[in-house]
Amino acid sequence: MLPTPTREDKFSFGLWTVGWQARDPFGDATRPPLDPVESVHRLAELGAWGVTFHDNDVVPFAADDHERDKLVARFKEALVATGLVVPMATTNLFTHPVFKDGAFTSNDRGVRRFALRKVMRNLDLAAELGAATYVFWGGREGAETDAGKDVRAALDRYAEAIDTLCAYVRARGYDMRFALEPKPNEPRGDILLPTVGAALAFISSLEHADMVGVNPEVGHEQMAGMNFVHSISQALWHNKLFHIDLNGQRGAKYDQDLVFGHGDLLSAFFLVDLLENGGPKGVPAYDGPRHFDYKPLRTDAGEGVWASARANMVTYLLLKERAAAFRADPEVQAALRASGVGELATPTLSPGETPVDLVADPSAFETFDAEAAGARDWGYAHLDQLAVEHALGAR
Ligand code: GCO
Ligand code: MN
Ligand code: MN
Repeated sequence: MLPTPTREDKFSFGLWTVGWQARDPFGDATRPPLDPVESVHRLAELGAWGVTFHDNDVVPFAADDHERDKLVARFKEALVATGLVVPMATTNLFTHPVFKDGAFTSNDRGVRRFALRKVMRNLDLAAELGAATYVFWGGREGAETDAGKDVRAALDRYAEAIDTLCAYVRARGYDMRFALEPKPNEPRGDILLPTVGAALAFISSLEHADMVGVNPEVGHEQMAGMNFVHSISQALWHNKLFHIDLNGQRGAKYDQDLVFGHGDLLSAFFLVDLLENGGPKGVPAYDGPRHFDYKPLRTDAGEGVWASARANMVTYLLLKERAAAFRADPEVQAALRASGVGELATPTLSPGETPVDLVADPSAFETFDAEAAGARDWGYAHLDQLAVEHALGAR
């Protein structure tokens, strides 16, 4: 039987996901515009818990104050009517031509100041709607030619922007954290902060580093050839996994934004296992929103859009069930022991042991049997196969 998504699962969707009209660089829209109010109602019926939005998903770029107030009021009514929450919001700093050379890192200072004001305006709305996280995806922060962008100056301006916006949030007393979303390319030829690792290093240099974490997206990390489970593990290790964008991607190509699991399914299995069972004593390692940032296929329309939205949640729940079965299986536990997986948690030095003590320990070197240790069968293929068999529902 298929699992049914409920509010407790904390599934959220961007308005821009189901609302994507499927315009691509080669073809026109294949679907009519979707009223955000309808999206809120449909997602709630499917069992989602939250919706997220860019400022311009709710209020068009050119709207005046009167129109803005009307549209925001309608959106709020839909939230109240359905009980959906807004766990995260973000800014569109990429569609309008004004941002074609970047927003925070445009070579034009006027554009940079405009971008800050655009974010501040939506931060006020996000705070009003109770968003705990504000995402920054810098799709236009980058370049096509190395001659056209002073990358060190761009990083200075990027840091200045995030520092300024952190100061704004603090001054306003908003209870909100920022999450930077890395991506290696598309729409820019090369985007700044291309991977989770690059974003984490950047964050450590910020003035309010404690307020800033990452929002890794499955497909973006995989576009860069990275192992998403490793990237998430490192974000967790730094206590910086503030939010996550779940979707699917098949290898290093354009950003596919497929349904979660409709790409590297085994990686999705290990990801869900990490998120749900990777905390101390098998509790979840991450308790934030399970946020889907996918695009319904351009070929699908009407009910197909809602079927794809539901597919994200059902696949996540199936993988969660499969991961729980994997963890509970005594054969898996024996295989984990045989591979020494748990042993890695033991510090390499004994309590109080110094480098000098290590040098004085002949068992660490002089009498250590490197040949025997080198001949060990780690049994990883057996362990991996157990995971595959659980993922396939064969156990
Ligand atoms: C992408 C990105 C974007 C961002 C979103 C938030 O697919 O390149 O996922 O969708 O997540 O715009 O700003
Ligand atoms: Mn994407
Ligand atoms: Mn995303």
